[in-house]
Amino acid sequence: MSDTAISVAPATIRLSDYQPPAWSCTEVELLFDLHEDHVLVTTTSTWSRTGGAADLLLDGCELQTESILMDGDELPVEGAHIGPEQLTLQPAGDLCVLQIVTRLAPQDNTALEGLYRSGSTFCTQMEAEGFRRVTWFTDRPDVLSCYRTTIVADSERYPVLLSNGNLIHSGEAEDGRHFAQWHDPHPKPCYLFALVAGNLARVDDVFTTASGREVSLQIFVDPGNEGRVEHAMASLKRAMAWDEQAFGREYDLDIFMLVAVHAFNMGAMENKGLNIFNAALVLADPKTATDEDYARIEGVVGHEYFHNWSGNRVTCRDWFQLSLKEGFTVYRDQQFSADMGSAAVQRIGDVRGLRERQFPEDAGPGAHPIRPSEYLTIDNFYTSTVYQKGAEVIRMLAALVGEEGFRKGSDLYFERHDGQAVTTVEFVAAMEDANNVDLTEFKAWYDQPGTPQVSARSSWDGENGTWTLQLEQSCDPGAGVAKRPFVIPVRLGLLDASGQDLPLQLEGESEARGTSRVISLTQTRQSWQFTGLAEQPVPSLMRGFSAPVRLTDSLSSEQLAFLATHDSDAFNRYEAMQRLASDALLSAVSAREAQAERPSTEVLSQTFAALLGDRSLDSAVLAEALQLPAEARIGDLSEQVDVDGIHAVSEALNESLARDHTGLLLERYHELGENLGAELGTQPAGRRALRNVCLAYLSRLDEHLPLCIEQLDSAPTMTDERAALMCLSHREGEHQERAMASFKQRWQQEPLVMNKWFEVQALSRRANCADDVRRLAADDAFNPSNPNNLRALYRSFGRNQPRFHGADGEGYRILGDLLVDLDSKNPVLAGRLATLFSPWSRFDEQRQQLMREQLQRLLDLPSVSTNSFEVASKALG
Ligand code: TRP
Ligand code: ZN
Repeated sequence: MSDTAISVAPATIRLSDYQPPAWSCTEVELLFDLHEDHVLVTTTSTWSRTGGAADLLLDGCELQTESILMDGDELPVEGAHIGPEQLTLQPAGDLCVLQIVTRLAPQDNTALEGLYRSGSTFCTQMEAEGFRRVTWFTDRPDVLSCYRTTIVADSERYPVLLSNGNLIHSGEAEDGRHFAQWHDPHPKPCYLFALVAGNLARVDDVFTTASGREVSLQIFVDPGNEGRVEHAMASLKRAMAWDEQAFGREYDLDIFMLVAVHAFNMGAMENKGLNIFNAALVLADPKTATDEDYARIEGVVGHEYFHNWSGNRVTCRDWFQLSLKEGFTVYRDQQFSADMGSAAVQRIGDVRGLRERQFPEDAGPGAHPIRPSEYLTIDNFYTSTVYQKGAEVIRMLAALVGEEGFRKGSDLYFERHDGQAVTTVEFVAAMEDANNVDLTEFKAWYDQPGTPQVSARSSWDGENGTWTLQLEQSCDPGAGVAKRPFVIPVRLGLLDASGQDLPLQLEGESEARGTSRVISLTQTRQSWQFTGLAEQPVPSLMRGFSAPVRLTDSLSSEQLAFLATHDSDAFNRYEAMQRLASDALLSAVSAREAQAERPSTEVLSQTFAALLGDRSLDSAVLAEALQLPAEARIGDLSEQVDVDGIHAVSEALNESLARDHTGLLLERYHELGENLGAELGTQPAGRRALRNVCLAYLSRLDEHLPLCIEQLDSAPTMTDERAALMCLSHREGEHQERAMASFKQRWQQEPLVMNKWFEVQALSRRANCADDVRRLAADDAFNPSNPNNLRALYRSFGRNQPRFHGADGEGYRILGDLLVDLDSKNPVLAGRLATLFSPWSRFDEQRQQLMREQLQRLLDLPSVSTNSFEVASKALG
């Protein structure tokens, strides 16, 4: 052990090493004695042997152990049986009762895992491996137990004492203290345990389930915020009703609680009966929350609620199966949001997110399949791949077996595995068995990383009225591993010259079957013949983005313009417009590099005007279609990211569109604003979205800045106020300064709104954005121990391609400086933010060097966290 670097290197956890637990724990009794400077936890647990003569191994992390009793016998709290992270016990028989007392210091817990404090509130975050920071336990999801929890605390400071399940006792205790006892009848893994104690206000409602049971709904927030929970409560009730109707899933306790806290590492957590949320995903009113915030709140409230079945009643066998609950639950929340609002807009937003985050992840050093096979810490696998691509995989299953078949499959899955901890194989098996299909080949999506490339070619035989489509798939093998072909559902339609969908009849079929249908690409290369066609069709492929692939085809800009203005599939209209724009930007970048003349953008410009002027189109879809792709998306589509080239051509194209269509933009801006106040809902939100896209274009022209200023000063909603602030944030000089100062003046008492102020400035195109970020980190409104603040400033900046990747490396140093400091305080968040450096190899040599330096700084930290170590060492290869 002379090489310390090796002796401290974290161990790799492998799926292939999985062993079922040798001991199961049926009952857990917890007593939390809460004090200002310490907490005593007494855990009484009942164990039974399930496998052979194995020891009882318990996990622990940074625990101060006060006492251990095994079947009434006291064991020493030091010695060979207690390692830093493992307690090894050898019970004599097959049954055993343990009583363990641990002492915690939640007031010093900056990692926000286990028991910690958010302001004056005690709260917990156990997923994925936080329970081992509370007590010695088998901290793994396949050990399911019933929990009884008693909380004792000062009555005045902590009038509210919550845990999972039903309240069974409460009352006075000594010294001005009181207690509450909770019992959760549903066996659960310890990652679903939760506790909250604080001085919180409660908002009540009720929901009556389909079978007529009354469920008490309770949302807890800081006193004073009661007026901002209406939307979260309404979303919860819609989610409960939707899960009954769409999936046949009813809620299973008499009480459902949701608590909003300010210090939280992620969005929210599905603890059984007691969801804990980042306050940013609960609190909303039109003055302080944007339409996007409203939509996210609805989606996340739904997401956590849906976990009650997809995650809690049926849970994961091990953490490699994370996508079993997350991919499925994201799919469920996406479908819920689609049903509550506009399905097309929902789909466009979900695909935009997938392409902005998951595609780059799958193309970089952090690429992993939705079911990874090894990790150093599971914290690093709460990724866009596991979540968003995981949801796409479920969506493809639904496309393959059909809507009804999917419901049959999910019914069977829930029925068969209720109360169990299972794997993704069991999920697919339920789909297979319910539909009598073989999905063996489909499972490649679970264990192969990478985004498949699909290229399409077609030929037209006018004499026979036959159109032939040839599709070919490939996937960068990565690490020299050959891949099996993916099963890729391709939804398609064929348009005639007037833009109507043609009936689709495949060779060998006696008649046409619909005008939009799914064909499956299952081999490397395959072709299909469509017959009975009177004219050469224009193909609309991958309708609704039917698979997470990169499609290349040889459509001309005229054909794309035709699809953008005629396709019956709203997603593909958006897609065609985005293709026109990204083709234009990519060829402008190449022309710039070759110092050649800039290619024409005539077709794009005409299509832009045609869409903008078409009042029959959904404004929210238009808002998405008319914005140029983000610079990072153009980077993702490039061989190598030309940061400055992409920025230059993107600025130029935005400006020329604004100049060429000023009249129309102004007209629509004013017309969309008529009688548009603070009213919420899909329609008004869509109008605001399009109107603010018009404003963003107009703001590129100095003469229209007064419009932005006026909107900033008189905006009836935060949506409009933020949009105007964003427009002004890109300017240099007094307009920008005044806008920022007045916004801060107005909102400095509202931490959630101030996050928008940080975010907008971190996303600014201003040349000196990096200096702004350094300055903002020292602003009196910035709280560096609050993850929302850190994300608002640093994650936003990291996604600001032209500025984070500024050639001088200052952007990289800013993030590196933060991570060096954050790594020891909050490793989960540090590891997540460190992934902003992962795509280093996509940039030019100078930037590569500068980014690698920052990754190396992390590796050189004397006690680098496993989280940052895993991200940085993987990135540097
Ligand atoms: N399971 C949570 C979800 O619904 C994710 C989550 C919340 C989480 N907090 C966390 C994951 C902390 C890791 C660490 O998506
Ligand atoms: Zn989730």
